[in-house]
Amino acid sequence: MAQRRVTVLTGLLVLGLLLAGAGRAVIALAADRIELAVDASKSGPKIDRNIFGQFAEHLGTGVYEGVWVGASSPIPNTRGIRNDVVAALKALKVPNVRWPGGCFADDYHWRKGIGPADKRSVILNPSWGGVTESNAFGSHEFMDFLGQIGSEAYLSVNVGSGTPQEASEWLEYLTTGQPTTLGKERAANGHAAPFKVAYLGIGNESWDCGGNMTAEYYLSQLKIYSRFVRNFNPAQQDRNQMLKIAVGPGGGDEPRWTQWTETIMKAWQRHTWSWDIDGLSLHNYTVIDWVSKYKSVGFGEAEYSRFLKATLDMEKIIGTHSAIMDRYDPQKKVALLVDEWGSWYAPLPGSNPAFLVQQNSLRDAVLAALNLNIFARHADRVRGANIAQMVNVLQAMILTDKAKMVLTPTYHVFRMYVPFQDATFVPVTFDAGTYTHGDVTLPRTDAIAAKDAAGVLWLAVTNVDPTRPVDISARLAGISPRTVTGETLTAGAVDSVNTFEAPGTVKPKPVSATVQGDQVSVTLEPKSVTVLAIRP
Ligand code: AHR
Repeated sequence: MAQRRVTVLTGLLVLGLLLAGAGRAVIALAADRIELAVDASKSGPKIDRNIFGQFAEHLGTGVYEGVWVGASSPIPNTRGIRNDVVAALKALKVPNVRWPGGCFADDYHWRKGIGPADKRSVILNPSWGGVTESNAFGSHEFMDFLGQIGSEAYLSVNVGSGTPQEASEWLEYLTTGQPTTLGKERAANGHAAPFKVAYLGIGNESWDCGGNMTAEYYLSQLKIYSRFVRNFNPAQQDRNQMLKIAVGPGGGDEPRWTQWTETIMKAWQRHTWSWDIDGLSLHNYTVIDWVSKYKSVGFGEAEYSRFLKATLDMEKIIGTHSAIMDRYDPQKKVALLVDEWGSWYAPLPGSNPAFLVQQNSLRDAVLAALNLNIFARHADRVRGANIAQMVNVLQAMILTDKAKMVLTPTYHVFRMYVPFQDATFVPVTFDAGTYTHGDVTLPRTDAIAAKDAAGVLWLAVTNVDPTRPVDISARLAGISPRTVTGETLTAGAVDSVNTFEAPGTVKPKPVSATVQGDQVSVTLEPKSVTVLAIRP
């Protein structure tokens, strides 16, 4: 839970006059002060590294061009997978990648994506613009990609248009170490050793593009898939080494969604040995309207504040569904995985609207930090999340255009937050203050802290306010701070973006913070995300 105290901050807003440039008078706002209390002796749950998961769907140029260019491409690649994208993703320590969809997963038939490249069927991708799908990027290529970036597989199996037999054979093909016909076929296709599958998603949005099922109908399918889709990898024989994830609610806390969660969790409470799940998924996008007129670049403070207000609904939605799960699963055995989240804006002009191409601005960086903070505060239940999506689609880490690649502001936040992966949550209490624009009022600041295995205390602080800096003064207990270093991410405007021509417009820079006794102080620039490493 958020550890905010709702006391009123008495800090005074002071207007200062700065003389800048050639005698030009610039009015600057002096910072208010916000105090944090960080008690490193009180540890909470582990922040599961899997909340930093990614999602790569066969959608637009998310896989083809974004990841896969083919071995004969002039774009530097290793066995068809682009080297620049791999190098960038390695720095994020991506814990898992959800694939092949999304809606596409319920159209996907794995057999079409194995075997000699020139024999693979070319099909259509009806979910995403009806474009052709070459199946050149199939199971082996996906596993190769994971090996190159050092990540794990989150496979979504086809419940909508597939069968339990098809899914069960896919898992046998991938994971058996025995010389079965499928195991031998995998070996003949170039991989003698069994693959590892960390997560098995049983369907995707089965209440909508995954088959328009009722909760009861989906539940009957879930029981069958959970029973018959097995992982045979000898190294994964403990069931908890492949987590089975049920389709959960969509983005809301209205009865349609709470009833879905109720149905699955109530059944789970009475489950028998023959079926089980380890997680329930939740999809929640930050969207104001689906056929959006809201642009991803070229907007002002009104849209900045509206989208950040919308993104904070994540707190309430997770709270609502966690409370239902608590009733049926007080020991929190079943995780909540927010396995699709992120911003959803209007497609960029000139792009195929079915490809969901959008720019990624400083607003997205702040939005990402606020969501990651929410997941961390719910670390006891939220043990996975997958941002939508990894490359070229929606709130991407990376944008590509043929041989060019650019890292987005969201990428930088994920990179700055790497130390929070598997770190232990440390409670922070603070008065967030308020930021108001028009009829939108938001918490002005946000903060989380965590301790890593080496005893370093990590503090992430976000200043949502796009005009006022803020002085942060963090009083620490349970650690004697010796040094503090850190970096901050900000830029000139709320809609600043990185482009192929100007890739460094939004990029982290070192921040100057000080330690005095048990106190760490730092000034946060407006609209910024800062991560500090406090070493004892
Ligand atoms: O991420 C794009 C789409 O959004 C996914 O395919 C689907 O699951 C969701 O509706």
